[in-house]
Amino acid sequence: MLYRVKQFFHALFPKISEDDLLWVNRILGPNEVELFKKLPVHEQQHSIAVGKDCMRANGSEELLKAALLHDIGKIESNLTILNKSLVVLLSPFEKHKKHMARFIRDAFYYKEYHPLIGANLLKNIYIEINQGESFSLTQSQERVIELIEAHHHGNDSRDNELQLLKKSDANN
Ligand SMILES: [Fe+2]
Repeated sequence: MLYRVKQFFHALFPKISEDDLLWVNRILGPNEVELFKKLPVHEQQHSIAVGKDCMRANGSEELLKAALLHDIGKIESNLTILNKSLVVLLSPFEKHKKHMARFIRDAFYYKEYHPLIGANLLKNIYIEINQGESFSLTQSQERVIELIEAHHHGNDSRDNELQLLKKSDANN
């Protein structure tokens, strides 16, 4: 019984373990960690689970970064657990969304565009980091951005890492 109560409270007040936090700090740079921590804790947990799956599949450093940061486009969104569930329930009626409440329309918007929003957010952070050296992105930074932008709608079947990211996202 006590176990059930604990389980319930863990679901209500999710926490990131010390070990997982250390792992995140190993994969991400300080500015990226700052961005990661702006995600709601349940999204942080999801992203860590996706990242660990990618690590087990021997993913590159860029893939692991993308896995941890793939949903950062939701930071400014209203995609709470409840709104996400509503979006799923209402998705068969998405074409009528202009008649729905504003918060539902916003949730549909972020569901659709968070990959692009997240990619742009990270790009701006990288440009800030690079300043002083160059304004252009490194190949590695470009790759992380590319993976984030494609994590829902990208369907390049030759891109094995993108496929791995999509699969791990769907499984977690
Ligand atoms: Fe996503």
